Parts: sequence; structure tokens; C-alpha cells
Amino acid sequence: MNAAVTSPLATDHNGLTQLVASLPSRNYYDPAHYALELDRVWYRNWLYACRASELAAPRAFRTVEIGTQRVVIVRGDDGELRAFHNTCRHRGAALCTESHGTLSGPGITCPYHAWSYNLRGELVRATSKHLPEGFNKSALSLYPVSLREWDGFVFVCLARDPPPFERSFIDGSVSRLDAWPMNELVVAHSFSKAMRCNWKVFWENYNECLHCPVVHPSLSRLVPIFARALMDERDDPDWERNRASADPQFGTARFRGGLREGAVTWSRDGQSHVEGFRGLPEAERAAGHVYITILPTMFIAAHMDYVRTVRLRPLGPEETELQVEFLTTPEILGDPRFDLPGIIEFTSEVMLEDAAVAELNQQGLRSIAHAEGVLMPEEYAVYTFQRWVTDELARG
Ligand code: FES
Ligand SMILES: [Fe+2]
Repeated sequence: MNAAVTSPLATDHNGLTQLVASLPSRNYYDPAHYALELDRVWYRNWLYACRASELAAPRAFRTVEIGTQRVVIVRGDDGELRAFHNTCRHRGAALCTESHGTLSGPGITCPYHAWSYNLRGELVRATSKHLPEGFNKSALSLYPVSLREWDGFVFVCLARDPPPFERSFIDGSVSRLDAWPMNELVVAHSFSKAMRCNWKVFWENYNECLHCPVVHPSLSRLVPIFARALMDERDDPDWERNRASADPQFGTARFRGGLREGAVTWSRDGQSHVEGFRGLPEAERAAGHVYITILPTMFIAAHMDYVRTVRLRPLGPEETELQVEFLTTPEILGDPRFDLPGIIEFTSEVMLEDAAVAELNQQGLRSIAHAEGVLMPEEYAVYTFQRWVTDELARG
């Protein structure tokens, strides 16, 4: 990438002021580069695993696969959530083979030679009749994995020395959802899809709205500024002048962002039909959507009556799992007026539109003629994302 010496980011609005090259095309399909990204991006950063409410009961467990790595997360009888590499200390067999469930006893027993561990990961029993001299059970605990709970989400980090959790929130948004009852939320619905694209392709698409008028006709009607190919009012080089204008049209969602007049949430008809989250301040309700980006693992879109999470998981150089979850409170979920089908229909359409263009993007990147692309001024956040990836790889 021809990184400019001076920052190409504009200072008075969101945009690029210089022509910037995209990442080399081979970075999106080369197996060796993919292996490097697993090592330096995915095995070093905090990754979203599941909701804590999905592991509410003692002995509930879940396994998570990232690249070649497998992690088991389990809630102990003491109520603590812990994570371990899903690997036996004897000769390395995988311990838990199911994706989730409840352990039948107070520990984990290896299915190979039946070594057993308690839920703190300590080796309780090794199955030889003659333990060798020097055998020290306490030195053979399961390999621990760092775990962090935040807003009801469970994150794990495979690094021995994990980075500060807040570092994953690239826009410093760690407290942005404080007005939402995040710890109370349960999973109302989820779906996943294997996309035939590199994980970065999906993130890049997320980071720009140049495609919105072309790819998302329904969404562009709900969020009028998207129809102008902008994500935010500050993406408009004239935003300060427009904001100061006495002309009422510059005060509309078409220029300021937010939902079209009369709409309150992301759903089929833009309506909610329920009162929404109790105690949500008017500014958050009126915003229509609030986004948080947690690289490289997920983004969160919070609305007045539900929260949507989108998790990415690399499955290969050119394959990425997209997992979408719809979260709300048990109270809203139990309200017959809550239009969950309308929410799922609308947002799934948007997500599948994005998945389709991500696959299209991946196909074209394979051209031997296309060494790299170029970024347009509106793609400033793509540039920021690509810099983040480049910096992660450079950390050595
Ligand atoms: S590999 Fe687990 S007990 Fe032998
Ligand atoms: Fe999109």
C-alpha cells in the first residue's frame, strides 16, 4: 500500500483528501497472508464468543473455533466463567467435541485416556497406575484463555498477554451503550451464513456507504443520508455550512442522519409497536441507531427496542462466517406487539445485500490484472480500517 507520509484524512470533515491505494489484492486470498492475519490479528485480539446469558447455569459450556484454535468456555459451580484451550495436557486431544451443552459432572474428562479436570482447569486425575517420578499434577492444568465480560457479552483472547480490552473499540466507544439495559438482553433470534469472501472485505463494506444507494434501496429509504452515499453528516464536506443554514431542508435526516420522519427503528415499516427500552433517554431513542465497532470481531447496532450484533469469524482465506443476533429484554420479547419478524425481515435483507456484494468484491479481487484498488474520499473509514490491519500485522 502506498501509505502517504502525511495523513490523508481531512481535518474539517470525515473524508480523504488524497488518492490512497487499497490493500494489495493478494492480501484477500493468499493462504500465507491469511495465516499471518490469524496469528497477528485473530489470535491476539479480544473476540466475541457468546452472550453470558447463554451460559447462565453452572456447568454450561460452549466451544469456539477461531482459525485452527479451539476454546472451551465453561461456568463453574462457583458461578465464574472461565475459558481454556480445548486441549488435554496429556497428549493434546480435544476435550469438548460438542458446540455447547451442560457438563454431566463437576469437571471435564478427556475422551481419549480419561484424564479429568475440575472447572477451574486443575488436573484432578491422570489415569496411569504408576505415576512417574516428578509428575506434578499442579503443573498440568488446562491452558487458560483470557476472558472478559462486557455489557453481557463474553469475549476471549488467545494472547498470553492480552491487549487492553478498550483498545478493540477503535472509535473509543466502550461506554456508548451505557443507556441501554445491555446486561438484561437475551437472544431473541440469530442466524449465520458462510460468505465466500475474506473477512476484511466484509469489514470494508461496513465502513463505507458509497454502496448504499446502489445496494440498499430499502435501507436508503429508512435512513435518508444513506441515499446520499454518506454515513454521517460530517461525511459531507459542506456539513458545517449546511448545519448553520436557516433553510429547514438542511435540518432533515437527509442531511443530519437518523431515520426518515415518522420512523423509530430498523424494521419493515420503520415502526416499533412497543414502547421500547425503559429509561432510554430521548436522544438515544431519536437517533434511530447507534453503532459500536469492536475490531476485528463484531459490530453492534443499538435501536430503541432491540440490539443487533454482527460477528465475523474467518473460516479460510476466502470464507467468513457472518453471525447476526437480535437481542432484547425478556419483557419486550414477551410483548405480542413486538414485531420481531418485521425486524428480522428488514435487517436480514440488508445483511444479505452486504454479503452478496462482499462475495462479488472477492471474485473481482482474484483478477491477475488487479494488483490493488483505490479509495474514494467517502471511504475514509475503509482507510482507517486498513491502517488498523496494517498496524496489527506490523506489531511482529
Ligand atoms: S490425550 Fe487426554 S487423556 Fe490422553
Ligand atoms: Fe451495506
